[in-house]
Amino acid sequence: MLGVSTVLLAVANAEEWAGVRVLLAEVLGYRVLTAQSVKKALALTEEANIDLVISEATLEGEDALSILQHCRVSLPNAMRILVKEPDCDNQKNHEAAELAAIYQFIRKPIDDEQIGLVVKRALEAAELARRHRLISRELKLSDDSPIFATKFDNQIVAQSSNFEKLVYISEPMAELCSLAKQAAVTDLPILIQGETGTGKELLAHAIHFNSKRTDSPLLVQNCGGMSDDLLHSELFGHKRGAFTGAISDRLGLFRAADGGTVFLDEISEVSSSFQVSLLRFVQEGEVKPLGSDHTMICNVRIICASNRRLDEMVEKGEFRQDLYFRLKGFELVVPPLRERRDDIAVLAEFFTRKYCESMNVKLLGISNNVLDKLRCHKFPGNVRELENEIRRMVALAKDGEYLTTRHLSKELASIDPNSMGNKEFRHMPIDGETLKEKVETLEKSLVWEALSRLRWNQSKVARELGLSRVGLANKIKRYDLQHSN
Ligand SMILES: Nc1ncnc2c1ncn2[C@@H]1O[C@H](COP(=O)(O)OP(=O)(O)OP(=O)(O)O)[C@@H](O)[C@H]1O
Ligand SMILES: [Mg+2]
Repeated sequence: MLGVSTVLLAVANAEEWAGVRVLLAEVLGYRVLTAQSVKKALALTEEANIDLVISEATLEGEDALSILQHCRVSLPNAMRILVKEPDCDNQKNHEAAELAAIYQFIRKPIDDEQIGLVVKRALEAAELARRHRLISRELKLSDDSPIFATKFDNQIVAQSSNFEKLVYISEPMAELCSLAKQAAVTDLPILIQGETGTGKELLAHAIHFNSKRTDSPLLVQNCGGMSDDLLHSELFGHKRGAFTGAISDRLGLFRAADGGTVFLDEISEVSSSFQVSLLRFVQEGEVKPLGSDHTMICNVRIICASNRRLDEMVEKGEFRQDLYFRLKGFELVVPPLRERRDDIAVLAEFFTRKYCESMNVKLLGISNNVLDKLRCHKFPGNVRELENEIRRMVALAKDGEYLTTRHLSKELASIDPNSMGNKEFRHMPIDGETLKEKVETLEKSLVWEALSRLRWNQSKVARELGLSRVGLANKIKRYDLQHSN
């Protein structure tokens, strides 16, 4: 398993599970998240990368089997364990368990050691299944000809990395995520900069879930386009009657997130007077609700994001320098997608799978022509733009099809990689008499194109084409491909 495994406990009474929690977290070394409501559990499955879910059948009187059923679709590789009450309705549970493909039942009363053992074995089984998938793919593909770069059984995504919900394969993102993991475990404020749609919010979530504060809330506030009073009241709270319309007390985000993290998006947009209040909060942890005489202290970690360069704003006198220095305990810059083109294919496949699942469409993969065009696009809207494009394409495609250039939006369809003045994207003509010959010339051209584009880095080429190193070497030999410089 890559990194520490994460276990989600969806249980009605957290105290009853305290022993299991300690065993899993402190003895077995897993990361344990707890949810006591269906809503919280579903939110965690969206935010964190979960390897195993243990759920009771009922939470707060609500049917909690839906959590396991949801995980079957959204986290298909996570193991699912159902905890049954001694007097439960077996028939109902078995039917639901079938729907959720439960790995194992555990019957109450809770036996910490038994649960520890079941979790350990389940995670081992998941790891074996993961390795099996990878090895079968390697074997299958070493003598397979990938006409379509991302046939779903090729699984480019399987070779990519994850930081919680962030998917990437490029080096700049690997470096960024490794720095973010280091930053996460400190308690310093973090400033995330990057163009719109690069994944700043996703990164903030990942940092929170890898920090000591993971059991406390992460609350998000967008600071763009809000008046000072409103923003003040949202973050610091207000007393009843503090202003017209303040009909009751409001706690404010900082106090609501006490012990956790507050993510302030579009921090560049706050006024200079609000910057003063924020500075006081960052320095002293002091919160003074509007209309109150009392100051309270709360312990919150701040993560800010901005798509404007704060250092430039400081130089122009548009942002306080002292606040800027306070906020950037760690500074993380998310590179635009055009500077990490290796991520395009991986993300395209990831989003295709995601939308196939949510729209219930069964597609075979993405054609190479589509990927070539995507790789040539500048993506001013970054990953969000790519995600929207793929969502549109999946909506247009039908069961059993590949995503091809006819599904692309007009702007992207009109890109011609061959006329980009970039030899690297030029394909050889597909000649040959029989289908076999044509397929071979196509394969030769695809291998040649990837080798030229990736400057003969054979590990990268093999990875991108879903081949083993030996499989790629065989093809280079078979087609007599030679490095020209
Ligand atoms: N590496 C990634 N892996 C998977 N999804 C991603 C990745 N990066 C971004 N996304 C998706 O792209 C969309 C935009 O990401 P996000 O909202 O985090 O960007 P942002 O930088 O905060 O944008 P903005 O500056 O406009 O607020 C989201 O749907 C997010 O899930
Ligand atoms: Mg954002």
